[in-house]
Amino acid sequence: TPHYHIVVLPGDGIGPEVTREAVRVLEAAAEAFGFRLTTETHPVGGAAIDATGDPLPEPVLQACLQADAVLLGAVGGPKWDNLDRAQRPEAGLLRLRKALEAYANLRPVQVPEALADASPLKREVVAGTDLLIVRELTGGIYFGEPRGRNGQMAWNTMRYTREEVARIARVAFEWAKRRRGRVASVDKANVLEVSQLWREVVSQVHREEFPELELEHFYVDNAAMQLVRDPRRFDVVVTGNLFGDILSDLAATLPGSLGMLPSASIGGRVGLFEPVHGSAPDIAGQGKANPLAAILSAAMLLETLGQEAAARAVRQGVDAALAEGVKTADLCRAGETPASTEAVGQFIAAYVRQQTPVAS
Ligand code: NAD
Ligand code: IPM
Ligand code: MN
Repeated sequence: TPHYHIVVLPGDGIGPEVTREAVRVLEAAAEAFGFRLTTETHPVGGAAIDATGDPLPEPVLQACLQADAVLLGAVGGPKWDNLDRAQRPEAGLLRLRKALEAYANLRPVQVPEALADASPLKREVVAGTDLLIVRELTGGIYFGEPRGRNGQMAWNTMRYTREEVARIARVAFEWAKRRRGRVASVDKANVLEVSQLWREVVSQVHREEFPELELEHFYVDNAAMQLVRDPRRFDVVVTGNLFGDILSDLAATLPGSLGMLPSASIGGRVGLFEPVHGSAPDIAGQGKANPLAAILSAAMLLETLGQEAAARAVRQGVDAALAEGVKTADLCRAGETPASTEAVGQFIAAYVRQQTPVAS
């Protein structure tokens, strides 16, 4: 039987609350689907600053590099907001992504039937939405040099090389091939040189390697509007680091909550699986956080490890919880009774345990 070593980095705020449920579900999946799982938990972000002074201590990074996969909750919070940029919890996460060479951040956005009425947008606009944001994660303005500040000004650099654009474009086209064959590339090529290069390289990869697929280009401002106006027109959306960050939170309005969006950060040797949302200090410690983004991130982890049947069972468990109304407050309408973070995790773990793996 396969044996996977998973490093769990709960982080801060609701991070520990949601990762606990994701681990519960992973353990249920291992039992039901006959593989072994060893988890090893380490502090990252604010928790690691408090313990060691460093948001990504060297032994934690080494453990991640040795793992089969890394499951992360979220980092950051008001307690650490006044630290210098490089000392902040968020800097630890960015260093981790870079060290893992996790340049491709996959952020699927679906609106399950049971959530079509939880969206602030109309059911007839969002029902059936199924898109995948492919966000470049280890380049762009997040990492570009020069950067800095003096007393009078501050500056950052949005920078991409041809190779960085080509490799993320290939990831987007490969996913489009397995999906509905359409890629929307998002940039600001009417203003930025870096976006002109982006557009040129994405077009070239399309022409030379994936001519059978459909490619459209959008300016980011228009893409934001179209994502809200008619999300079903999108299949795969590929974009740079900053635009992808912003558009994915925007896209969370489609299912109605950030607590629904999972992600996988891949491309290096070890994958990093993390919800799109942050540490949600406003609801931390209250048992209210939606664990589905973390649980669906765990499903992406299982899929990446080759445990497709287990991943499918987890997703079905999520659908079953939603269909039965076992959901946290962020997904509830007036009159509905919210379930706790733990109750949602327990429901899905129990569902997964009841699945009999089908021999393939
Ligand atoms: P956030 O994503 O933490 O929260 C935004 C809003 O969404 C809040 O109202 C929050 O309550 C709600 N929300 C988020 N996740 C939820 C969930 N699972 N269930 C229910 N509601 C949920 O963003 P923010 O408030 O801008 O940032 C808070 C902190 O998190 C900051 O320090 C930020 O840097 C950090 N952050 C970390 C990550 C990460 O670790 N990957 C991502 C985003 C933000
Ligand atoms: C995310 C977060 C991070 C990002 C922050 C916390 C560094 O917002 O994962 O979307 O901007 O990438
Ligand atoms: Mn973000």
